[in-house]
Amino acid sequence: MPVAATDRRHLLALEGLPQGEILTLLEVATSLREAASGRISPLDRLAGRVIGNLFFEDSTRTRHSFSLAAIRLGADTLDLTGRASSVSKGETLLDTARTIEAMGVDALVIRSREAGVPAMIAEAVECSVINAGDGRHEHPTQGLIDLLTLQQRWGDFTDHRIAIVGDIAASRVARSAIHGLTTLGTDVLLVGPSTLVPRTFEQIAAGPGRVTVGHDLDEILPQVDAIMMLRVQFERHSPGAIADDYRARYGLTQARASRLQPNAPILHPGPVNRGLEIDAEVADDPERSVILDQVANGVAVRMAVLSRCLAQR
Ligand code: CP
Repeated sequence: MPVAATDRRHLLALEGLPQGEILTLLEVATSLREAASGRISPLDRLAGRVIGNLFFEDSTRTRHSFSLAAIRLGADTLDLTGRASSVSKGETLLDTARTIEAMGVDALVIRSREAGVPAMIAEAVECSVINAGDGRHEHPTQGLIDLLTLQQRWGDFTDHRIAIVGDIAASRVARSAIHGLTTLGTDVLLVGPSTLVPRTFEQIAAGPGRVTVGHDLDEILPQVDAIMMLRVQFERHSPGAIADDYRARYGLTQARASRLQPNAPILHPGPVNRGLEIDAEVADDPERSVILDQVANGVAVRMAVLSRCLAQR
């Protein structure tokens, strides 16, 4: 039977997660920031527990911050990547997940190239399953990171508007952000070429926030309280799908960044294509860019998510 969004043993998506659940996760993550920073001794909240990281697609931020989150909660970790596992010999992802579970893990953190793999595994195992990014579907912990980073800047989510710019069609980050932000009352402007920003995205708002699609980045710059630039995901598109004038039309150059409101933070989930979707000087701007704040928040958010899921077992 499909796992309900409200089943706290798992975190598969932000779609369907009630406002109160999201705000509680942000509150717990905030309370864990010092422990997440590593400046104090690890907590013993998950002592004796084992977290299995099953990454069937490459990752730097998500994989290592889940490992650090587990360690800083006192848990042990088991790391497995697609290339260094029996998946390379043809074993199915489900058999791999069941095999790791049989060794006695309490949670599986799963990244996959295909949408729906974490949900499929959650139906088949007894342990907790956390989606660490599945194809073009969702990346719920990245969505929570983006929410926490904005909450630190804005304080509140209502009466705010954010632009999410670029490769929306291929972006699980954008989907999770849209569900989380609109659930909390933020309006979202999706901006990019019509090939990458289909108008159907206007239908996926959870409400009370609204989603609007646009194609003119220069027009919207002064209108938003934050901007999130997305990585162009060449690996999910056929050759030639990204137009040669992409940077000229949709890149966040220094000239464009100067037209944003003075306090509007600049987000990017990483990894960054410097000089394409965002210029290096903008990505590194110490006043405006919150890219490394997002990374730091990743450990606290993942500690909050692991604590929530494993509290149910
Ligand atoms: N933002 C993100 O998911 O980065 P990684 O692919 O490095 O995990």
